[in-house]
Amino acid sequence: MINIAIDGPSGAGKSSLAGFIAKELSFVHVDTGALYRAVGYYVVCNKADPSDPESVVPLLDSLKVDVEYDGTKKQHVFINGKEVSEELRTNDVSMAASAASAIPEVREFLLDLQRNIAEKENIIMDGRDVGTVILPNADIKFFLSASPEKRADRRVKEYEAKGIDISYEKVLEDIIQRDKNDSTRKISPLKQAEDAIPVDNSDMTEEETKRFILDIIKEKLL
Ligand code: DC
Repeated sequence: MINIAIDGPSGAGKSSLAGFIAKELSFVHVDTGALYRAVGYYVVCNKADPSDPESVVPLLDSLKVDVEYDGTKKQHVFINGKEVSEELRTNDVSMAASAASAIPEVREFLLDLQRNIAEKENIIMDGRDVGTVILPNADIKFFLSASPEKRADRRVKEYEAKGIDISYEKVLEDIIQRDKNDSTRKISPLKQAEDAIPVDNSDMTEEETKRFILDIIKEKLL
């Protein structure tokens, strides 16, 4: 099976890039952030503190996260059999996911799910530790980043398109906080794999980024 890894900070455009590549190559796009968001959502629903292992870890016993891919290869996430894909996209869930993802038991809980999908399908998987921990032998690894300001700007536009009212300052502050959480946690921090290709898309359009990455993949694999 062919495995492509894309890691990088929140809001660098990993997900839409991976979705595009998956469509072009007929690969499955595995959005690992959504799995951590599922845990974050479950923690929020149960009114637990996402940064407190003592309140999060016991909840994992009653949590089952599943994914399915439809005919268009879109990922659907289920918590205990109920689809929650849409509920995972809020700012509160992002923050809870970021906090809970620093807990080793949470990462362990999601590890096999991620590896099992990669064994069965040609995939493009995006996340924080795909190239370093989940799929260290991935065929191609990218590390996608952009400045916090550019990422905040893009995220505000996404929220606006969905009718969600949130200020640029708040989004920027949360992005900086999440970068800090994600890259300073002890276990599986956000880090560029040694053999990853770095791509800073601060000054690239989404279209340019997609073409750039697709060309590299085609050159290396096809
Ligand atoms: O990519 P995202 O914003 O949907 O991810 C939500 C959070 O989940 C992110 O702040 C960090 C965590 N995460 C992680 O720790 N490891 C991954 N492979 C993917 C996401």
